[in-house]
Amino acid sequence: MKASDSAPAPGFWTRRQLARCHSVADLRRCARRRMPRVAFDYLDGGAEDETTLARNREAFDGFELVPRALVDVGKVELATTVLGQRIALPLVLAPCGLIRLIHTGGEAAAARAAHRAGTVHVLSTVGSTSIEELAREAPGPLWYQVYVWKDRGLLRGFLERARASGYRALCLTVDSPVPGRRERDLRGRTDPPGLTLGTALDTLRHPRWLLDWLRGPAIGLPNVLPERAGDLGALGRIASASLDPTVTWADLEWMVAQWDGPFVLKGVLRAEDARRAVDCGVAAVVVSNHGGRQLDRVPPTLDVLPGIVEAVGDRAEVLLDSGVRRGSDVVKALALGARACLVGRSYLYGLGAGGEAGVDRALALLRAELARTLALLGCPSVADLDASWLRRRTPAGGAR
Ligand SMILES: Cc1cc2nc3c(=O)[nH]c(=O)nc-3n(C[C@H](O)[C@H](O)[C@H](O)COP(=O)(O)O)c2cc1C
Repeated sequence: MKASDSAPAPGFWTRRQLARCHSVADLRRCARRRMPRVAFDYLDGGAEDETTLARNREAFDGFELVPRALVDVGKVELATTVLGQRIALPLVLAPCGLIRLIHTGGEAAAARAAHRAGTVHVLSTVGSTSIEELAREAPGPLWYQVYVWKDRGLLRGFLERARASGYRALCLTVDSPVPGRRERDLRGRTDPPGLTLGTALDTLRHPRWLLDWLRGPAIGLPNVLPERAGDLGALGRIASASLDPTVTWADLEWMVAQWDGPFVLKGVLRAEDARRAVDCGVAAVVVSNHGGRQLDRVPPTLDVLPGIVEAVGDRAEVLLDSGVRRGSDVVKALALGARACLVGRSYLYGLGAGGEAGVDRALALLRAELARTLALLGCPSVADLDASWLRRRTPAGGAR
């Protein structure tokens, strides 16, 4: 199927549900109703006590927006560039593994919606759509995210396949030398996924998700273990055991040299790491704590962003993710120096709520919120954002 100007029309019920969603939080509620618990927890959960997951949100709430009066905001500019490419809004769809578990439209649905919104989708190494299939199904722009696999032959293959399929940038995620421990997944028995009486009964209570699952092709990891499609339990175990925990800066240098386009390093939380990455030749760093899914109790990304922006200067671009749920969150990140934000769950909630049309809805809501926030702030362009638009709150509400 080729990308079209609109998502395949969803059924009456889904259309009605999506029309009633007026925020990402609404889409989350809708996804939660539509999906069985095992799949929803995979999407929604964070590591261990989910402290970082919660603090990512608190960090955004820790800033207030301070408007300027009497500014002409008849036209508000949302477009920017990332890695030299114009995007219509400062949002990129983050790499997320196995998303056909959320809706069988999966990566292709998300990437087509990103294209319609005028932005980039990043395919994960552990995506549930192959590098080649996604390039055929979505016009892009696409980036490819790698985890370093113990089998370096396979890793070299990822790079060659992504290059041959026209992926513009390579993104290496470095916050996952070993898998994080998401206890919700363990309780829901999704890690490794397996059928218990409880999950079977719960799945039967979600017939639209179940029908979608039964009608779609078997879900697997076609880029890394094409032969094991459908065997989710084994896939989780094998993929986790295949991650290489010995990766160091020398591997980054090697990979940057192998890839002849822009290179992005994702999962940086220290200024000195960002500086060193730029010395190794990366074009952008993503300040990310993996949406609170890897090491719990690391700082919220918004807190460490200014130090990283200062360390990198104008030698590379700084992007941010983890906790972005509102257009105003994007405004805050840009005001503190990010060039753009990546979103993970915000578009996945849309996917879970209504497939491809749901991702369209998530991106349209974020776009509208971003435009409205800028207009109400009296800021005519994302390029005009800086720290002067923000005020830090103390927990008691006073200025710090
Ligand atoms: C279900 C799910 C799967 C993810 N899989 C990957 C992955 O395969 N590779 C990766 O680099 N990051 C992965 N991430 C992290 C996202 O790329 C991104 O950093 C994170 O979702 C940002 O936080 P947010 O969800 O609060 O927006 C995943 C996130 C989620 C929610």
